[in-house]
Amino acid sequence: MGLDQSYLKDSVWKPNLFKGKVVFVTGGAGTICRVQTEAMVLLGANAAIIGRNKEKTDQAAIEIGQLRKDAKVISCSNIDVRKVESLVEAVDKTIKQLGRIDYVIAGAAGNFLADFNHLSTNAFKSVVDIDLLGSFNTAKATFNELRKNKGAIIFISATLHYYGVPFQIHVGAAKAGVDALSNALAVELGPLGIRSNVIAPGLIDETEGMKRLVTQDRDQVIKRLPLQRIATTRDVADATVYLFSDAGSYISGTVQVVDGASWHMGALK
Ligand code: HXC
Repeated sequence: MGLDQSYLKDSVWKPNLFKGKVVFVTGGAGTICRVQTEAMVLLGANAAIIGRNKEKTDQAAIEIGQLRKDAKVISCSNIDVRKVESLVEAVDKTIKQLGRIDYVIAGAAGNFLADFNHLSTNAFKSVVDIDLLGSFNTAKATFNELRKNKGAIIFISATLHYYGVPFQIHVGAAKAGVDALSNALAVELGPLGIRSNVIAPGLIDETEGMKRLVTQDRDQVIKRLPLQRIATTRDVADATVYLFSDAGSYISGTVQVVDGASWHMGALK
């Protein structure tokens, strides 16, 4: 599921692509954002993993740090992205220990399946607060570093809001907001040298989303997908490397969908 040294040999990326750079990742102990971070670290970056759960965040930081001999990967745990002051604390710790922040992945998310009738106002608000307000807070807390280093931010969205996905009203609404937030930031912060993009993963193998949303037989799912395979976390990691690298230096204000064209055929319906 995760990446290892073989990524350096069999990916198209140059080793040390991100040497001397630091990536700050909310949700970095989760599945998708963790592999994004692994790719960045294997390619030379140092990283700060931001999470709510201490044990999970500390463990992820230790394991990701083992991917490269000279890697510095720190854990910032007990951080709630709904509170900007909590994120400022994580930013301060990152600067103290790693010196700078060049790239930000805003990936912290909350999700559960609930139909409209059983989705309380507080449940809706909780997910909007984590996914959308949390993304805003992440940009806000890292802004000075992004400005100083002419950095780049990637928000993690979804394809759920391109059409109506039942039981995902809360997430669809939040992720639509995340796309809008990124687009506006790209325009407003572009003159400062900051790029803002979104990655919208579709179904990704071995993730919570896959486990919770897909109930059909795996082979049947694959047959329905345009590229005839299920996306991997590595596919999302590769899109991340591209967007953060110099190859993506004129790419801003985009939503990079990583779903092999499956939403075009309504594969999530
Ligand atoms: C209906 C639910 C619910 C459920 C919680 N709530 N789970 N309602 N169905 N399964 C309601 C609660 O009853 C409460 O409303 C409100 O949501 C807030 O719940 P809390 O537990 O108090 O909030 P909090 O501790 O902040 O938890 C946030 C959370 C939780 C989003 C509800 O699930 C969470 O922290 N998840 C983080 C991890 C996670 O889910 N990651 C998934 C990422 S994967 P009331 O009215 O009772 O007060 C992903 C890919 C897609 O995003 C996955 C597809 C499914």
